[in-house]
Amino acid sequence: MDVPILTLDGPSGAGKGTVSRLIAKQLGWNYLDSGAIYRALALEITEKKILQDNISEIVKVALAMDLHFECGDDRLVKLNGKDVTNLLGLENTGNIASKIATISEVRAALLQKQRDFKQSSGLVADGRDMGTIVFPDAKYKVFLTASALTRAERRYKQLKQKGIDANLLKITADIQERDQRDSERQFAPLVPAVDAVYIDSSTMSIQSVVAEVLSLVH
Ligand code: DC
Repeated sequence: MDVPILTLDGPSGAGKGTVSRLIAKQLGWNYLDSGAIYRALALEITEKKILQDNISEIVKVALAMDLHFECGDDRLVKLNGKDVTNLLGLENTGNIASKIATISEVRAALLQKQRDFKQSSGLVADGRDMGTIVFPDAKYKVFLTASALTRAERRYKQLKQKGIDANLLKITADIQERDQRDSERQFAPLVPAVDAVYIDSSTMSIQSVVAEVLSLVH
């Protein structure tokens, strides 16, 4: 099955999620939010009180978890039947996800779950290693980034809009720490695929990023 796949990799806060969703909608392709899979696993092990170094238990949970994504106007993610959409977005969930994502056995356990998102119409895959490891043969590959300060400011605005108390310096430091862990890990680190188109969205609007990515596909 020759399915068209567009991979969008990059650090957190570069706008991958928004851009990927808009593109998937416009093209009528399926959408894979791979970060949400790592985040769901982070939630599961936290709830089950499994320690982050208990690799065999984390792998068991990874293989057993039942994840369901609904991509209507409002995004909905169900984990073992329970709506976890809001919990997935918490900073702490992302930090735990980034830590367990350094474990090669965990990455291997989640590989098939991600590849199962391939559907005949097409797929937009958003993550860190979509173009390098999960879909190395993808036809279209993009590496979307933005400066750490730009990403922190976007996150800060999002939190403020939701009425959540936020500190820009702390968010910037967290983002830099997460970037470093994601980029320097031994297995499937965050690096652009050699054949990826590099886009720095620091001074671009979402619409212009979407237009640039779509121009690759058309
Ligand atoms: O994209 P995100 O912020 O939702 O991802 C949360 C964490 O999950 C990220 O810090 C690293 C990990 N992750 C990964 O290792 N590989 C992916 N393809 C996606 C996410």
